[in-house]
Amino acid sequence: MHSVANPEYWEQRYQEKSDRWDIKQAAPPFVTLLQSTTAPSPGRIAVLGCGRGYDALLFAAHQFEVIGFDFAESAITDAIALAEASQSSAKFLQRDIFDLPAEYENYFDYVLEHTCFCAIEPAQRQDYVQLAKSILKPQGQLIGLFFTHNRPGGPPFGMTPEEICHYFETDFQIHSLIPVTNSIRDRQGEEHLGRFTVVKN
Ligand SMILES: C[S@@+](CC[C@H](N)C(=O)[O-])C[C@H]1O[C@@H](n2cnc3c(N)ncnc32)[C@H](O)[C@@H]1O
Repeated sequence: MHSVANPEYWEQRYQEKSDRWDIKQAAPPFVTLLQSTTAPSPGRIAVLGCGRGYDALLFAAHQFEVIGFDFAESAITDAIALAEASQSSAKFLQRDIFDLPAEYENYFDYVLEHTCFCAIEPAQRQDYVQLAKSILKPQGQLIGLFFTHNRPGGPPFGMTPEEICHYFETDFQIHSLIPVTNSIRDRQGEEHLGRFTVVKN
């Protein structure tokens, strides 16, 4: 059995269709956010661990310049096919997100997070914070829909809002991290939406 740090783990799950995280649509809290008076202005956005790309397609439809990154080949192949079918401008690249700083330092206005931070090994969370910081421009924002469940055994690694703050508060200003009210049924009461601005010296 591969570990979650290994692309084969995810690739196998995409191929076997044992991909229960895939909700086959953009996350409703992102839809609501983009329709709200506090919607972020369009800019360049990186979608980390984008899977089949539904959130990326949503932001592209709202005039964002989107690149979705995932290290599972099948996820990227499917995301590209969905983008082509809907004539979306979203781009998708097969990359390990931890390699992005070398290619995209200070490049993005936003980083979009949705069930990627909970999918990496907890030992890699600090590296995730650093990679997000690195690829964001000064004043760039992380918009994150965090899976804040406490069930042992996953999916993959739960976390509390306090733990999220603990990881991000040194390198990001935390504007909001609030419980979500319009999660899909299976995630009701288990998601928080965060908006953090990177702090760069
Ligand atoms: C739980 S899935 C969520 C996918 C997508 N965000 C969604 O909500 O459908 C986690 C995704 O992160 C990807 N992933 C995990 N670690 C990664 C890494 N180091 N680099 C790139 N992608 C990664 C996996 O391949 C998988 O597609």
